[in-house]
Amino acid sequence: MAFVSAVRASDVPDGSVQVCDLEDREVAICKANGQIYAIDNLCTHDDGPLDQGEIDGFEIECPRHRARFDIRTGEATRGPAIMPVDTYPVRVNGEEIEVEL
Ligand code: FES
Repeated sequence: MAFVSAVRASDVPDGSVQVCDLEDREVAICKANGQIYAIDNLCTHDDGPLDQGEIDGFEIECPRHRARFDIRTGEATRGPAIMPVDTYPVRVNGEEIEVEL
């Protein structure tokens, strides 16, 4: 487990999502209410791209069938998804957002 550089902090305004290719996976860097979170970019229902969804409070909505996930915990908060998405620790190092994989 090590922190890897993901994206510049200035590229993720509040209420937005930025997808990053990190090692063998796509990670969605989300910013909500001034806090930064990192989750797997693939919806657990049918692999919808979560970075194309909308953030509402601390939830992100999948653009395909409107499942929702809590970006703080990965929990599925609305169907049709049932399984959570993976979450990753994040930190800000200077201008960079780093994700622990
Ligand atoms: S793929 Fe995300 S809700 Fe179906």
